[in-house]
Parts: sequence; C-alpha cells; structure tokens
Amino acid sequence: MEKKVKTIGVLSSGGDAPGMNAAIRAVVRTAISKGLHVMGIRRGYNGLLAGDMFEMNLRSVSDILHRGGTILYTARCPEFVTDEGVTKGRDMCLEMGIDGLVVIGGDGSFRGARDLSLKGIPCIGVTGTIDNDIASSEYTVGFDTALNTVVDMVDRLRDTSQSHDRCTVVEVMGRRCGDIALHAGIACGATSILVPEIPFDLDRDVIAKMNRTIRTGKQHFIIMVAEGVGGVEEMAKYIEEKSGVETRATILGHVQRGGSPSARDRIVASEMGHHAVELLKEGIGNRVVIYRASKVVDMDILEALNMKREFDEKLYEIANEISI
Ligand code: ADP
Ligand code: F6P
Repeated sequence: MEKKVKTIGVLSSGGDAPGMNAAIRAVVRTAISKGLHVMGIRRGYNGLLAGDMFEMNLRSVSDILHRGGTILYTARCPEFVTDEGVTKGRDMCLEMGIDGLVVIGGDGSFRGARDLSLKGIPCIGVTGTIDNDIASSEYTVGFDTALNTVVDMVDRLRDTSQSHDRCTVVEVMGRRCGDIALHAGIACGATSILVPEIPFDLDRDVIAKMNRTIRTGKQHFIIMVAEGVGGVEEMAKYIEEKSGVETRATILGHVQRGGSPSARDRIVASEMGHHAVELLKEGIGNRVVIYRASKVVDMDILEALNMKREFDEKLYEIANEISI
C-alpha cells in the first residue's frame, strides 16, 4: 500500500527563471488546500542536504507572483550528483518527514529528482529555465519573459544601430539551445540568426546576406547569435572587415534571467505547480510536468530525459526567408 503523503517539500535548482515564484506559490497553495504541509527548501539540493528548510503557509507566498528570481533561492549542488549525496538527501527527507518533493528547474535538476525518486522519495519535476531546452516539453517556464526582455533590449539596439548605419551582433543566452536566438531573431527582424543546432558559414550566411540587403537600400543590421555559438567580438571584427559596415558586439547576459514574469509564465507555472502537487498527493513520483499540445501533462522522468530535443528547422527557414 502507498504511504500516505502528509508533507511535501519544494525547491528551485539550477539557473533561476522568471515564473519560479509563481510555481512555488501554486505548489504551496494547492498543497495547503489539499490538507498537506509544505517545507520550503533553500538553495536547491544544497538546502536539502543541509536541512535548510522552513514550513511554508499561505502567507509565505503572498506578493511573489509578479516577482522574478526565486524566494527559495537557487544553486548548483555538485554533491547531489554523487550516490552518497542523493542518499544523504533521502535520509534528510526521512528525518524531516518529507514524503514527496517538487523540484523546479531544468534537465540537470530533473536528474537529481530521478535519483531521489529511485531511492524512495517521490519527486516531481516542474520546468523552470529560460532556455526552452527541455526535450519533453514544448515550453519551459521563464522562456516567454526572457524572450520579451531580449526583444525590448534589441529594439533599443536597433535604434542606435539605425542612427549610425551600423551592424550590431547580439549574443543571447542558450548554451546548447538556440530557441531564444531563433524566436528573438524573428521578433526583432534580425538579418541572420546563428544557433548551435545549425551549421553556418559567416561569409555565406551573414556577409553575403548583408551585401544583398545593402543593394536594396538597407544600411543597418542585427545579427542574433546564441551563446552556444559564442565569439561575438571576433565575429563583429570579421563582419566589419568583410562588409565595410561599422559593427559592434553586445552580450546581453544575465539581464535576460531577471524581471517580472510575463502573464504566460505566471499562468503556465501556476498550472504546472498545481499539477505537481496533485500527483504527489496520490503518492505518484518520478514524473516531470510538461507542456504538450498546449496542455499541462506529465511523463516519466527517465523517458523525458532520454528524449532528444528537436530544433524547429521550419521556423528557422521562415526566419531566413523573411529577413532579406
Ligand atoms: P538545470 O536544472 O537548470 O539543468 P544544472 O544542470 O546546473 O541546472 O543542474 C542543477 C543541479 O541538479 C546540479 O547542481 C545538481 O545538484 C543536480 N544534478 C545535475 N545533474 C545531476 C545528475 N546527473 N544526478 C544528480 N543530480 C544532478
Ligand atoms: O540555463 C539557463 C542559463 O541562463 C543559460 O542560458 C546560460 O548558459 C547559463 O544558465 C548561465 O549560467 P550562470 O548563471 O551560471 O552563469
């Protein structure tokens, strides 16, 4: 017979993302309304191992829905990648009476959740990463806010780029995933979009395109580059040399991770947090809450982690075709 779930824990882990607070709020409120106790664990798996946690109530999550970052703080925890670390985490859950855990983060955090589930503590993963890089989910909490921040920043860059007849090479976040670059590239009318998923040639895909466009009268350019491609300073020098257009590089950096979450991120995070608690309440663990066909559903963590992420090549082609 399944053990009755009385107390659950919640933590945020890995890089923070706008909307994590909305997910925490939904977890706490859903759990309390279902008669459960909730322990808020600080700084991801670090807090779990150190027993750094506190009981949350309805008011612990007041006034956080609109705030970026995470009130539970977040961290990376190398110890949790070891078997001893996960065993220690399991023992801490038993000691603190935690019968299940909601882990808000990305794929790395979900690996930890899977390991802890296999040691007998049911865990549910909730997506929280600006990168949109979780293969099993069509959407990750934080992506929409980050994207809108990028669009706002690049619109500003475009103003100055246009006034000076310049080319601006912009680096946006995404180490292995070009989704921010692709979507922001379309939304900002970038001349070229360079992502780690698609091989490119600077002469063919940037310089030749700029030259064609110059002939039609355009004299300022945005080149959108994903962090995983890197090298934007050198790229800017090369573009200036080859095209004759004065070029600057801008790395947007961590500004993309902050700020008040968009309505979309607040709503998806709330749905996902709620769904996670419904599963835990039934004693179900080892699942990730994902977005599929515009619905919040769940699937086995291991199956989810084994999925290969597909880059939207069709959207990339569209971007290419309309950026002339
Ligand atoms: P994200 O969750 O955003 O992908 P990370 O990859 O940095 O972020 O992972 C966050 C944390 O998840 C790590 O610091 C570690 O504590 C835990 N983690 C990552 N990979 C594993 C793993 N293979 N096994 C157990 N825990 C892991
Ligand atoms: O995973 C989110 C992310 O913002 C990536 O886009 C980026 O590569 C990384 O985290 C940066 O991590 P850190 O905050 O450790 O510099």
